[in-house]
Amino acid sequence: MDSFTGQVSITMFQTVCHVAEIGSGQSKMVMIDGQMIGLFNVGGEFLAISNECPHAGASLVHGAVEGEVVSCRIHHWNFCLRSGRYLDQGKPEFNARTFVTRVVDGEVQVSLDADDE
Ligand code: FES
Repeated sequence: MDSFTGQVSITMFQTVCHVAEIGSGQSKMVMIDGQMIGLFNVGGEFLAISNECPHAGASLVHGAVEGEVVSCRIHHWNFCLRSGRYLDQGKPEFNARTFVTRVVDGEVQVSLDADDE
């Protein structure tokens, strides 16, 4: 009898919107299982980050975006949209969680299970 001892990792993606809903350079807050996620279209690529600023909870989709960096509108802390890294100081406790995205049949999907770090 075969036995399996490895870990099984199942990534569950959920559809959050159609690609046409977020133009390049735009963003939108979406909800998955009660979690607020900021979804950003960066040059046609969709990047997802926890929408709640790790500093004091402001909505990151209302921040200013330049390239792959979002600057929170309240105190202007900067976060990498791809890694979630807090860029202003080496304080990993202020990194934001990011999520894997994919596009399937014109729909943007996000997984809560897998993040970049
Ligand atoms: S709430 Fe975002 S930097 Fe302060």
